[in-house]
Amino acid sequence: MNERLNPGQMRTPTEIREESEDVGRNASGNPTMGDIINRRYSRRGFLGGSLAVAAIGATVSPMALLAAGEAKAQAAAGSRFSFDEVVAGVDPQHHVADGYDADILIRWGDKVFADSPDFDPMNQTADAQARQFGYNNDYIGFAPLEDSPGHGLLLVNHEYTNAELMFPGFATVRDGKVELGDYTKELVDIEMAAHGGTILELRRNADGKWQPAPDGTMNRRITVSTEMQLSGPVAGHNRVKTNADPSGTKVLGTLNNCAGGVTPWGTYLMAEENFHGYFSGELPADHAEAANYKRVGVPAGWYQWAKFHDRFDVAKEPNEANRFGWIVEVDPRDPNSVPKKRTALGRFKHEGCETIVNGDGRVVSYSGDDERFDYVYKFVSNATFNPGDRAANMDILDDGTLYVARFNEDGSLDWMPLVHGEGPLTAENGFADQAAVLIEARRAGDALGATKMDRPEDVQPNTSTGKVYVMLTNNTKREEADAANPRAKNAFGHIIEITETDGDFAATKSSWEILLKCGDPKVAEVGATFSPATSENGWFGMPDNAAIDAEGRLWVSTDGNNQADTGRTDGLWAIDTEGEARGTSKLFFRVPVGAEMCGPLFTPDGETLFLAVQHPGDAGQATFEAPATRWPDFDDAMPVRPAVVMVTKQGGGKIG
Ligand code: FEO
Ligand code: CA
Ligand code: CA
Repeated sequence: MNERLNPGQMRTPTEIREESEDVGRNASGNPTMGDIINRRYSRRGFLGGSLAVAAIGATVSPMALLAAGEAKAQAAAGSRFSFDEVVAGVDPQHHVADGYDADILIRWGDKVFADSPDFDPMNQTADAQARQFGYNNDYIGFAPLEDSPGHGLLLVNHEYTNAELMFPGFATVRDGKVELGDYTKELVDIEMAAHGGTILELRRNADGKWQPAPDGTMNRRITVSTEMQLSGPVAGHNRVKTNADPSGTKVLGTLNNCAGGVTPWGTYLMAEENFHGYFSGELPADHAEAANYKRVGVPAGWYQWAKFHDRFDVAKEPNEANRFGWIVEVDPRDPNSVPKKRTALGRFKHEGCETIVNGDGRVVSYSGDDERFDYVYKFVSNATFNPGDRAANMDILDDGTLYVARFNEDGSLDWMPLVHGEGPLTAENGFADQAAVLIEARRAGDALGATKMDRPEDVQPNTSTGKVYVMLTNNTKREEADAANPRAKNAFGHIIEITETDGDFAATKSSWEILLKCGDPKVAEVGATFSPATSENGWFGMPDNAAIDAEGRLWVSTDGNNQADTGRTDGLWAIDTEGEARGTSKLFFRVPVGAEMCGPLFTPDGETLFLAVQHPGDAGQATFEAPATRWPDFDDAMPVRPAVVMVTKQGGGKIG
């Protein structure tokens, strides 16, 4: 991705991202997940879900058809969801199941503080953006304030920016391609201010719905300029020192914050995902960081920030890129707190970070590394959670063991520790110390023989069942196929269910199953395994984010159905995981054209669902002047705007 230099010929960030996502960077010889699924299920002769039904149907046996009908009826009867499904499709609006309200809570440019300037899309400034809601909302967290009923904190990541949709007169369409204009420092600074996160106080209004409180004293914008601290084993290491920070502990900002998490002690975790895209310049081939940067794709040059900020030029600041790719922990109750990059959780393209308290009191955090052929990780703390003393938990994530997953053919799973000096993680193999193991977590995973996955996104533990769900979006570069896993290219992704042994989330030997292979069940070659009770609206591809609701039920949001021409936009699907209905999926909400569905989050009472509509209108040759929709304002004077949607049941009650 280093060839992109002439701004007149630039591709949009989305185009570049999609190309880059097609380039797996894992050159290790470790087997892929596809290899293992194929071997495992072909040995067992396993055919599941609709595949089995399709195979039976092909014989046209009346008895078999009767059996298929019964299976469908049983699955439908066993479902834990009772809402009426949305009809799948593609149009400029969002759609929610009948009987529910879907209100716009906050949009790009809206005030975060009482004195924030009004959104003026024709005359944006970086100063205004730094006090307004950022772009491309992704993760959503909610931290209730126990001492203050009807009052809570909404925590929202702003993953990246779409310059072609944000800036008037900046993009033109030539030969069917969107081309960006010349960047000024102000435009770059607006982009930097539109990244990061927002902490926003919410209060319940008279009719019981949550609404933003711009006068809230905890409100905060976090951007690429917010001062942060490197914390844990890598802090102060030579490989994270820069000209601006000879201490190796002070970093400016966070970026590409995709998903995240809320800890049991109410802090906000922001995952740094595609950090490589922000760096430009050339590192000498013999530089000590060359192999490290190659493995993570630095520099990719998606953005022009290095033109105006030397730290994003790897030739000028060769260590800056080692200061990104971490999990950032923020105390949302103190707007002056310094966010901490928790290096013990490893450096890779973190999709998210979901944290739970294990039965023995230790804390376990799960995280996927979102790239084709990369790995699934979990972190287990040394200290135990103290429910009575919030302050005592604040540095739990600095001390513990990071593990990477090896999914074995026999259905077992090894969580392998990334500990310096153990196994291959030695100085002789290029890992000088524990900091090196954490900075180069991917290379450590290579050395340990971790399983190459089909783009791991959210990894969602369900504390009510002891299961953990791994979203694998897709991987069109995998070429091996057999009868049991008939996709030469895994275009639609799948979901793996891990069972942690005896409900011990800290276990190092566990087991796994496939919950779902995604895609259109009607197309036999796709090999999707939704239950037969799943309707034409209920199937989906490209699972990305996941949520467990107050009832312990699984919900999955998607990224890419629009682009893949599945006849449906992305959305939120409810999935049965237990009993006869296992593998049944129903569409609850869908986004407007061009958007991706992010951030599903249920409040603890199960009565409010927050959803993030990311990059709406980003379809075809969309520009500021000609987006694919003008959602959510539908006002010709307003650009299309990413926004957070709040779903409630009409008349009150639990969702779903
Ligand atoms: Fe930012 Fe993995 O999606
Ligand atoms: Ca994502
Ligand atoms: Ca995604």
